[in-house]
Amino acid sequence: MPVYTRGLMTDARVGDILVQPDELAHRVRELAQEISRDYAGRDLLLIGVLKGAVFFLSDLMRHLEVDCEVDFMAVSSYGSSTDSSGIVRILKDLDAPIEGRHVLIVEDIVDSGLTLSYLFRMLTGRNPATLEVCALLTKPERREVDLPIRYVGFEIPNRFAIGYGLDHAERFRNLPYVAVLAGENP
Ligand code: IMP
Ligand code: MG
Repeated sequence: MPVYTRGLMTDARVGDILVQPDELAHRVRELAQEISRDYAGRDLLLIGVLKGAVFFLSDLMRHLEVDCEVDFMAVSSYGSSTDSSGIVRILKDLDAPIEGRHVLIVEDIVDSGLTLSYLFRMLTGRNPATLEVCALLTKPERREVDLPIRYVGFEIPNRFAIGYGLDHAERFRNLPYVAVLAGENP
């Protein structure tokens, strides 16, 4: 097992590590067990929100023990690079209808919650049998809307996070851990 250190990415913008690779692997496995129990006997449709959730979703899905399918959506939220506005543009819609399906939205991180709240309302309108959310990370301090997040990996402090799918200007998604973006945080 390689040991990933900050030195692997010799970049001063990679700050303190918030979640180590082994903690990610362990928690993802726990979430998959919980989801497998909850959805036993039902067909599950995972909806990954591109691009950040891809890394988490593929690890999660590998540990699921229920029949499942995956589809993806890409959305862009109008707003500054670090603050979302709640107005969401769909860049890529789902390939198939979700009516009558058991749907689990898989997100990398819920910050203000505005993006997810929009997605949730939109997908509810398509009449799935059930609709739940699984987010790897949440920043409870930043929440602006009340959201039913059924499965949460980790609660993190109000810092801009990178790695394991999370980007800053499209970079750092490949870090095997979740770290703070150095220099951009209070
Ligand atoms: P929200 O609408 O404020 O909840 O923002 C959600 C989206 O903003 C997430 O799906 C991410 O794409 C992005 N985002 C929010 N916080 C972070 C962060 O700390 N690092 C990287 N991306 C983030
Ligand atoms: Mg996202």
